[in-house]
Amino acid sequence: MKLNRVEKALMNNPVRALVQRHYESTLMQQIGGRVSGERVLEIGCGRGVGTEIIFKRFGAQEVHAFDVDPEMIALARRRLSAFPCDQLSLFVGDAAAIEAEDGTFDAVFDFGIIHHIPDWKRAVSEVVRVLRPGGRFFFEEVTQQALARWFYRTFLDHPKLDRFSAREFVEELQEQGIIVGENTKEWFFGDFVVGVGYKANKTLSLILREKNDGTT
Ligand SMILES: C[S@@+](CC[C@H](N)C(=O)[O-])C[C@H]1O[C@@H](n2cnc3c(N)ncnc32)[C@H](O)[C@@H]1O
Repeated sequence: MKLNRVEKALMNNPVRALVQRHYESTLMQQIGGRVSGERVLEIGCGRGVGTEIIFKRFGAQEVHAFDVDPEMIALARRRLSAFPCDQLSLFVGDAAAIEAEDGTFDAVFDFGIIHHIPDWKRAVSEVVRVLRPGGRFFFEEVTQQALARWFYRTFLDHPKLDRFSAREFVEELQEQGIIVGENTKEWFFGDFVVGVGYKANKTLSLILREKNDGTT
């Protein structure tokens, strides 16, 4: 869902850009490394600060970035106008139904968007679908613990049902075939979770089913 006016002001703000540049992406890079020369997708790119970071800091060759809100995409187009169109594509889209073929990206970045999606597990399955086997998922997410805080409840607008803790988010990734292991960190008393996982060839549930059936 689109951000309300308060959250838009908080996101389209130099303080948010500072946190994203100097804290979140530093942590992501420490955990998961760079994506030099790779083809990358960013979901929920907002005004494009993350896209710029993916090019400049992470070294991507190509970035495809989308957001459900056309106003955000217009801001991102303005910010990123210097990048050539054979390296950057920006479009309006929905992370719960990503317009891309299966297995087309080396990496996917999520800077705090999946907690905005009512059917967030569907968005995870879309990320898994568009990643190539071995491709990496870089994520920073907001947990139900944060969403339950007075400020979030009073001023921001999020889906109310079926939100996730840090552990539940990572478990869902693993269940759907993104291996995270120890490559994750909670911060601000568990309000946020940052991490990097890679797409396995098989989902955890398939591996367990095969093990139980004795077929492996
Ligand atoms: C909290 S903001 C984060 C924006 C940006 N990634 C950042 O870190 O500054 C969440 C973004 O996700 C977008 N969004 C929400 N639901 C979405 C969906 N289903 N598909 C794509 N983008 C979505 C919102 O419009 C918003 O720009």
